Amino acid sequence: MKIKMLDLKGQYDKIKQEIDAAIQCVIDETAFIQGAEVKEFETNLAGYLGIRHVISCANGTDALQISMMALGLKQGDEVIVPSFTYVATAEVIALLGLTPVLVDVDPATFNIKIEDIEPAITGRTKAIVPVHLFGQCAPMEAIMDIAKKYSLYVIEDNAQALGAKYSFKNGSVRFAGTIGDIGCTSFFPSKNLGCFGDGGAIFTNDDKLAEKLRMVANHGQLVKYHHDIVGCNSRLDTIQAAVLNVKLSKLDGYACSRGEAAAVYRELLTDIPELILPAESSFSTHVYHQFTIRCKQRDSLKAFLAGKGIPTMIYYPLPLHKQRAFSDISVIKSGLDVSERLCEEVLSLPIHTELTREEQEYIASNIRYFFINCK
Ligand SMILES: Cc1ncc(COP(=O)(O)O)c(C=O)c1O
Repeated sequence: MKIKMLDLKGQYDKIKQEIDAAIQCVIDETAFIQGAEVKEFETNLAGYLGIRHVISCANGTDALQISMMALGLKQGDEVIVPSFTYVATAEVIALLGLTPVLVDVDPATFNIKIEDIEPAITGRTKAIVPVHLFGQCAPMEAIMDIAKKYSLYVIEDNAQALGAKYSFKNGSVRFAGTIGDIGCTSFFPSKNLGCFGDGGAIFTNDDKLAEKLRMVANHGQLVKYHHDIVGCNSRLDTIQAAVLNVKLSKLDGYACSRGEAAAVYRELLTDIPELILPAESSFSTHVYHQFTIRCKQRDSLKAFLAGKGIPTMIYYPLPLHKQRAFSDISVIKSGLDVSERLCEEVLSLPIHTELTREEQEYIASNIRYFFINCK
């Protein structure tokens, strides 16, 4: 059996007619940049998330950069970010001349460790960037309390958890990415809501900030050829917006399929003592962008599974503080041992909307075989 890490072709085949018609419509109009579908998608996503503004842009990395520019963060300002994340989160901080302050993560949820945030705050700290890693929310209520106490901005990196829901202690529920001052997401093809190329978006409830975000993303202009601030060129193209309009209507269904696949993995793998299965937080739903297990024999398990036609991925092999690009420019305030340990133990198993129980049984039986016979 040949297993896929991701099956975008299988997913496309099921919605081919709708997608092809939407793309053809854009081609017929030839409104490739800022066509009607872009506004339509922004409105649809804002409606889905229950947020006032969605500003689309070229990718998730730009979404983070535009956010930091619009908030007026300046050279030397410090931004707190987990060390166990995708590089983009810290890359834009460094690119803007800001200082990434790296903190550790919780070993069970892989998300930012709340206890490490306050000790990392100095007079130069301006923002916290929690990452909703692998599909579930960071502890946002506690993060927002800290941010309020020290007057810090919160920019949610929601590239991996679009559609996840956060439950507050008072019973209210909000979507990931709509809790902080700004939420950022990516529509990279493999994301839960993926387009057919690059794409990203920024969310906010703040009208003034929304206007600034739009300006920054569009060469610093509100009126064409009148540039009030230095911005950049970051656009979601119309074909991507057309694809996303179709796929947004399927997003909850996709999350359901991923959740079902995660439940099957739990059922099939739960009694293997060498494995730690991913924890589900009490305050967040999980949209399973990844199903990430941990084990001490990670590298030999990965090699064994590859030999059986089962692909796996290591997200991430190095924490940010061990990356050469960041070793000199980031600041470390506390131990980062959990981030380091996770990089040695994590293994993401295939999870996608088309995965079948039969495929998962094949994957699980090979994992079981490895622990009985090969470790
Ligand atoms: C956590 C995280 N942040 C940011 C990004 C950047 O998104 P993009 O690849 O669209 O620039 C990604 C995407 O891979 C991501 O996973």
